[in-house]
Amino acid sequence: MMNHVAFDTIIEPFRIHSVEPLRLTTPEERQERIVAADYNLFALHSDDVLIDLLTDSGTGAMSRDQWAAIQHGDESYAGSPSWFRFLDAVQELFPFRHIIPTHQGRAAEKILFTAIGGPGKIVPNNTHFDTTRANVEFTGAEAVDLLSPEGHDPALRHPFKGNMDVGKLEELLRTHEGSVPVVFVTITNNSGGGQPVSLANLRAVRAVCDRYGIPLFLDACRFAENAWFIREREPGQQDRDVRDIVRDMAALADGMTMSAKKDGLANIGGWLAMNDDDLAARCRNLLILTEGFPTYGGLAGRDLEAIAQGLHEVVEHDYLRYRIRSTAYLGEALIRLGIPIVEPPGGHAVYIDARGLLPHIQPLEYPGQALAVALYATGGIRSCEIGTVMFGRRPDGTEHPADMDLVRLAIPRRTYTQSHIDYVIAVCAEVAAHAQDLSGYRIVNEPPALRHFTARFERLGA
Ligand code: F0G
Repeated sequence: MMNHVAFDTIIEPFRIHSVEPLRLTTPEERQERIVAADYNLFALHSDDVLIDLLTDSGTGAMSRDQWAAIQHGDESYAGSPSWFRFLDAVQELFPFRHIIPTHQGRAAEKILFTAIGGPGKIVPNNTHFDTTRANVEFTGAEAVDLLSPEGHDPALRHPFKGNMDVGKLEELLRTHEGSVPVVFVTITNNSGGGQPVSLANLRAVRAVCDRYGIPLFLDACRFAENAWFIREREPGQQDRDVRDIVRDMAALADGMTMSAKKDGLANIGGWLAMNDDDLAARCRNLLILTEGFPTYGGLAGRDLEAIAQGLHEVVEHDYLRYRIRSTAYLGEALIRLGIPIVEPPGGHAVYIDARGLLPHIQPLEYPGQALAVALYATGGIRSCEIGTVMFGRRPDGTEHPADMDLVRLAIPRRTYTQSHIDYVIAVCAEVAAHAQDLSGYRIVNEPPALRHFTARFERLGA
């Protein structure tokens, strides 16, 4: 037996095989670029960004074995071997009867809610991600967030802040019988801080759904990270294989939507899955209209291969230990600097509480936007506002402060090293030291929905 010595270093369980250059910019260049982008970070050219923490979606590095799998991609229109490898890999973790491939997560949402949404319907979720909410509302249905009380307090440390409020769910189902076509639980809860949902909570939600005869679906984008948190934090789960925890989560649900751009470890892809034969038939008919034939959805055979291999890798314990530990490393450093974050740090991202850091900027003057712009101007870091810019505009046209004003530092999978993260920490320290000098923003132009992608801003007091 080897004598194992424990070291604290977070060692990346891979070495680098192919590198991409990063371009350094000067403060003057960044100032010019952000003004030209009307202070919207989505409008930047990404080669003007040094460390891109805009999203963990589709931005991860693929492995040698995924690139090799891509060479096996078979582009047959129907019944390709790549489809069957994809199907096997998905069903090994999520043994639903019907797996419907899509080009990404929101395509699965669009198809599902077209089939079961519509005016008068209500869809509860712990917290809807923005595309999920938009796809529910686009059908005329109402999207309701039923996050547990712990999830609303950014500073509170609780192991499962993504849990759904089961009491509120019961109340909603009791008072709106016949209007709820599905209950959704998002694992991990992205918009609420990348926080996990426990198996106990999923079981309790399932029991309520059973009492009212309503199907439970998972928005499972970050299922492996959620399962790792369960393994680390939920009593009795410590010695289990994470694959079994994933299968337990799947067994509690009737279906799922998935973006393979997160825990599929791929750059594109997703799926919709369910047990209901009739619903699956309706969804496949919609799939053929917009995505493609049911054995490829919106994907090339090579993409199906990359996802199949990604699903084998994402549930490896060494990978997940490194993944969750390295996100915590960033979060813990920010806490030591006195920067308020959603605690404990999430799985795929650290969420800075911009309202807490910039109390002098009112929510309707977008403290999250102010912080995100400052992180770019100071150090070339691109982050994402998740607050009043993203959620403040209601379908009725009125504007309200969002529940929280957060700035998300999302960590692409297997992409940045610890010294990149040390640089991010140094830039955050610099911005926080001058926080009182930052000013708020005003939106001068916005689209009717999902305004954060294309809104144009003006700095107040400029
Ligand atoms: N659900 C959740 C919880 C998500 O985080 C996302 C995407 C989607 C659904 C939609 O998936 O992008 O493949 O269409 N989240 C990305 C993000 C965009 O940056 O958090 P998609």
